[in-house]
Amino acid sequence: MCGIVGYIGNKNTSEILVDGLKELEYRGYDSAGIAILQDDKIEVFKALGKIKNLATKVDDSKFKIQNSKFSIGIGHTRWATHGKPTELNAHPHLGEYSYVVHNGIIENYKELKEELQNAGHKFVSQTDTEVIVHLFEFYFNQNNDADLSFAQTIKRLEGAYSILLITKSQKDKIFFMKHGSPMAIAKGKNDDEIFFASSDAPLIGYASDVVYLEDGVSGVATSSSLTFSTDVSWTTLPDSKQFAQKDGYRFFMEKEIYEQSDVITDSMMGRITDEEIIFDEIDSNIINGINEIKICACGTSYHAGLTASYLFERLTKVRCSIEIASEFRYKEPLLNKDTLFIVISQSGETADTLEALKMAKDAGLKTIVVCNVDNSSMTRVADTTILTRAGIEKGVASTKAFSTQTVILWMMALAFAKQKNVISQEKLKSEIKTLREIPNSLKVEDSIHEKCRRLSKRYLHGHGFFFIGRDVFFPLALEGALKLKEISYLHAEGYPAGEMKHGPIALADPELFTIALMPQHLHYDKIKSNVEELSARDSTICAISPLDFDLADDFIKTKPANHYMLEFFEMLIVLQIFSMEITVRLGNDVDMPRNLAKSVTVE
Ligand code: M6R
Repeated sequence: MCGIVGYIGNKNTSEILVDGLKELEYRGYDSAGIAILQDDKIEVFKALGKIKNLATKVDDSKFKIQNSKFSIGIGHTRWATHGKPTELNAHPHLGEYSYVVHNGIIENYKELKEELQNAGHKFVSQTDTEVIVHLFEFYFNQNNDADLSFAQTIKRLEGAYSILLITKSQKDKIFFMKHGSPMAIAKGKNDDEIFFASSDAPLIGYASDVVYLEDGVSGVATSSSLTFSTDVSWTTLPDSKQFAQKDGYRFFMEKEIYEQSDVITDSMMGRITDEEIIFDEIDSNIINGINEIKICACGTSYHAGLTASYLFERLTKVRCSIEIASEFRYKEPLLNKDTLFIVISQSGETADTLEALKMAKDAGLKTIVVCNVDNSSMTRVADTTILTRAGIEKGVASTKAFSTQTVILWMMALAFAKQKNVISQEKLKSEIKTLREIPNSLKVEDSIHEKCRRLSKRYLHGHGFFFIGRDVFFPLALEGALKLKEISYLHAEGYPAGEMKHGPIALADPELFTIALMPQHLHYDKIKSNVEELSARDSTICAISPLDFDLADDFIKTKPANHYMLEFFEMLIVLQIFSMEITVRLGNDVDMPRNLAKSVTVE
């Protein structure tokens, strides 16, 4: 995450850039900066922390933009990945006469940096971004052609990035490129103005038409021209800020469901190559001497942990157990120093999880928190923090926090398995290949959304829901049931499919809705038998599967996939949308359900 903005025009460039960054602050606020080019002068401001610090710096300076005159500017709010949050590491990054802002990660920056240093370029930051501006100048010094140099530069970059670059050698231009990280470009309401931003929120009110760039599109903008490397399609920008915050979705929950595909890419960025999983945050010997992994969390985070407990034990060959934090705290647990203690929390503030973490720390265990909020209480207590990078989650019903947690935990399981030498390189490579397919599995297909919307009509009454699944699809069933009950207020339970016959099947009748998770690649025949048993007792069955299933009353067909974890994410989307659409029909508040709070800081 990081946010970038850019502007060409004759208004107050510094104000426009700073206001734009405020809209993007949720994307990161370790540090921020702007660079403005007017006439021959470039002014740069950088500040640590929130955008208000940058705003104060700009206000306190003697710098005054001449508003009637044309200027160009770029800005950035940072969420540090490479290099600590310092002013030197803050964007924009400078070469000799050019500046760049960048959102994403340049994966081959080490090689490029070495090459450029050998060619005499001096680097001042620890960031991956700085190579971009040096690379540009390296080419420009040879060919004196800014357009060509920018094209040569972007050709050399690997990873995910969106970039804005300005240079004194072409004082009226902003060069841009989008690959993997978002970028929107908009035409101002008045002529001769162009705006750039990582999302459309900063553009609302200023601009009329917008292009949401596709991957691989680059170009160059001046006040009077905008050139793209391919055809683009313009759409009209809405006027309301409320719409912008939700990016046009009806609810934050809906936006966050749709965002999952992108934020998973952010979660994996810089942590994955074709051959290995790298967590710079984790000590390379962490798993040495560890005989047990214990996971502890609440709510949805607990479900991610339960999913992970299957994956950890299966992949690392280390015993793994999971505890609900509020239970763990008071059970007088026996804690051994050879146990690795992992807590999971979106907020990092959940009181019970925090207390459990402190208990483990006090008992001398190695501790890790998998968390979405940097600088939260848990990140300050745990020995190691792994950030999930889901971005701010506003819907009380957790969605993207769960998918990012699950992916991070799966990656950790693979990294530990590698450290312990219990996974073959071939298997690791194939799991990594699968990980890279998750963003695709998490894309919401229109047909799936529409199917859930139509089906929601039928599932409003009755005396309750059972969500059933086996193995990792059991925690997914728990998560599906939690999503439904917390926003629709309908009674729902998640259950291990094989356990139904030990009691709950007594409830089966047409008014009992069974939502059956039937993956092709994990115990399909077993779950099929369990569903047949329920169908024989007249329960109303809604099956979710890539394989046709005749006995179902309703059927949601997911895309076929070649790994059960991809099926897991395909089904996750269905469960989230299904709950949301039922809730819409019932007229409840989707984002702020009754009786709940986003962060539970009381025990
Ligand atoms: O911030 P945390 O992940 O620690 O929060 C834990 C639970 O309170 C949270 O997951 C809750 O269950 C959500 N409302 C579920 O959607």
